[in-house]
Amino acid sequence: MIRTVEWMKHTARQAASENRIIGLVPTMGALHEGHLSLVRAAQQQCRPVVVSIFVNPAQFGPREDLDRYPRPLEADCARLESLGVEFVFAPAPAEMYPDGFRTWVQVEGISQRFEGSSRPGHFRGVATVVLKLLEIVRPQFAYFGRKDAQQARVIRRLAADLNLDPEIVVCPIVREPDGLALSSRNAYLTPDDRRAAVVLHEALRAVERKIAEGERDVAPLIVTLRKVLATEPAAAPDYVEIVDANSFEPVRLLRGQCLALLAVFLGGVRLLDNMLIEEQNGRFTCSL
Ligand code: PAJ
Repeated sequence: MIRTVEWMKHTARQAASENRIIGLVPTMGALHEGHLSLVRAAQQQCRPVVVSIFVNPAQFGPREDLDRYPRPLEADCARLESLGVEFVFAPAPAEMYPDGFRTWVQVEGISQRFEGSSRPGHFRGVATVVLKLLEIVRPQFAYFGRKDAQQARVIRRLAADLNLDPEIVVCPIVREPDGLALSSRNAYLTPDDRRAAVVLHEALRAVERKIAEGERDVAPLIVTLRKVLATEPAAAPDYVEIVDANSFEPVRLLRGQCLALLAVFLGGVRLLDNMLIEEQNGRFTCSL
């Protein structure tokens, strides 16, 4: 495990000087199959693979779960080692944000909507730490999950706007057998809320069926999402929207690439899910 920025840079520059293809998988640890799917995708294309484990304080709001966020570092390292991951980069907060740290990265527009308006400052923290990680490791490829679709979009924007070299790869959502998207925060759910959480997936599935039946208007699709969510009294929607997948602007009619976005409170836990809706030759396919 690598703990310092200096040693991580040295190790990565060494690999680069040997013309090796470096892959980076940024995480906050508490690894589950969703994270591991990114690791496997990285291993298809890169050697060495660097997995960063850093619970980034800058992306948590003052009333969020920074302190109670799970940090099973040893178990995470053991899993990564058994997968054959070459390097785990797990810096302490003071290593990434030393005294005097004053530079922040703000991706405008998209960072203010949805996750950005529910969690002010969140994407500033994400963009800053991801830019730092990309610069420390300088990978050819960096891997992110569509589970956090808006985050992936913010990072693509960041990479394009700042002419960054790494290619940003966005991987599919890994789900539990009942459809719940894997997330480190699922561990906070009570058994009852865990059972209720499947309603997010059910809502997206219902929209998938409507689209298959020919619905193209967004308003009735949103009604469907809300109706299905309302069947679960414990579920309190934060936002329910269908947006253009690039701009994250709400759309009125399905066209090109869209995303159905859900953020729902269950008990005190806020769950995210989404479905990609893609038009190809006039036909729509949905990816959950
Ligand atoms: P974290 O929540 O640990 O997630 C790390 C990566 O795993 C993200 O790219 C996320 O989208 C992906 N991921 C999480 N659950 C997934 C699932 N069910 N299927 C597929 N991919 C999944 O996202 C972060 O950390 C942080 O914001 C970070 C990018 C590391 C910056 O601090």
